[in-house]
Amino acid sequence: MTDSKIKTMGQQFGRRSWAEPWKIKMVEPIHMLTQEERQKAAAEAGYNTFLLRSEDVYIDLLTDSGTSAMSDRQWAGMMLGDEAYAGSRNFYHLEEAIQQYYGYKHIIPTHQGRGAEHLISKALITPGDYIPGNMYFTTTRLHQELAGGTFVDIIIDEAHNPVNRHPFKGNVDLSKIQSLIDRVGADKIPYISLAGTVNMAGGQPVSMANVKALRELVDKHGICIYLDATRMIENAFFIQEREEGYHDKHIAEILFEFCNYTDGAWMSAKKDNLVNIGGWLAVNDPKVAERARNMVVVYEGLHTYGGMAGRDMEAVALGIKEMVQDEHAASRVRQIRYLGKLLLDWEIPIVEPIGGHAIFLDAKRFYPHIPQDEFPAQTLAAQLYLDSGVRTMERGIVSAGRDPETGNHRHPALELTRVTIPRRVYTQAHMDVVAESIKAVYDEREKTKGLKMVYEPEYLRFFQARFELIG
Ligand code: F0G
Repeated sequence: MTDSKIKTMGQQFGRRSWAEPWKIKMVEPIHMLTQEERQKAAAEAGYNTFLLRSEDVYIDLLTDSGTSAMSDRQWAGMMLGDEAYAGSRNFYHLEEAIQQYYGYKHIIPTHQGRGAEHLISKALITPGDYIPGNMYFTTTRLHQELAGGTFVDIIIDEAHNPVNRHPFKGNVDLSKIQSLIDRVGADKIPYISLAGTVNMAGGQPVSMANVKALRELVDKHGICIYLDATRMIENAFFIQEREEGYHDKHIAEILFEFCNYTDGAWMSAKKDNLVNIGGWLAVNDPKVAERARNMVVVYEGLHTYGGMAGRDMEAVALGIKEMVQDEHAASRVRQIRYLGKLLLDWEIPIVEPIGGHAIFLDAKRFYPHIPQDEFPAQTLAAQLYLDSGVRTMERGIVSAGRDPETGNHRHPALELTRVTIPRRVYTQAHMDVVAESIKAVYDEREKTKGLKMVYEPEYLRFFQARFELIG
């Protein structure tokens, strides 16, 4: 049901709420440690939420990756795993589901998203190439760099401004691509790295009009478009809600049409596909498929399992059928909005519009007195854990890493703490508790000091870096 229909019903009958299109059949107990225990756990984890033990966490909003609750049908499908080394029945189910709903021709399973990023980067990038993308993602850019490419940000400027309310802040700025083409030549640009629901921008969507226009532009220059389809369902929901001509289209139709403007996709099945592990690469060009199939046996596993068990592939195939249901997509995004609206009501600074998979707290406005080199977003994630055992994630200067040429910190415009909502896992009451904890940390903001980094790993430092409290 669309928001406008709900509103009309509300006017007719008084209050009407939406609710999740599922009920809970199995539960997993959780509990909050005492304040002393949380302080000890946070110090032992070097104030990095990635280094906490999950048992020490109360409400786990670190990520929506691999944290979904599977349905009864997916669990039943797990029992039908065909654990053959080659040609598992479940691979063919997965292949059919991707072909039907995303529309790509050749499917190569991988152990998770970055396995597919590795294959596509190696298959398409020649050292010295440029890879334009609508904002970087950590693992995506690293694989592009390891393959010898240089990432170039081509997202619209509005995306770097947390208070700008552009409805499609994930859009590509076509003039930025054109100037890159003019500068380096189209033959140095193998593909555009396009992501739906741009993670680092705050879960912001790309419009159908933008991908259409992008296709027209790149066709003139013989450049391909490869899609990071990880969170395309939420992107499809925003198109359905906000874009003229799509209000009456189903999520499944929107997804199919969007993918049709691209040449292939890589996927972290741990998000949209509603499973705990898995990924895939899907391409239309048989030559690219052949290159990727040659590599998958080196890095992942045979081309009919790519690092996944048969049962995992079955769960992905079934998850794809569930994720395209309109009510699923709507309730997913509405839960995030419920949390976001509570925070906005209390004037807590978050990225707007509210995105598709998470609330992004704007740590620069939250802690204006903490300089970026003292890691405000990392500080905020640590403070939330200390307050209530709620686990969130830094998406700012730590995640951005160092410039490979100068070795200096990159200073991203966005310094965010991501409060990420797993799919079908937490209730509205959990969202209330989270909002109240954020409010409590906000009320203490002036007294809060930043962090000092005391250990920094070489790659993807945000996962394993360690910090100490300043003062
Ligand atoms: N692309 C996007 C947009 C992602 O968000 C992720 C993972 C990947 C690719 C890589 O997939 O984890 O299956 O290897 N994002 C997780 C997150 C880690 O928490 O945002 P993966």
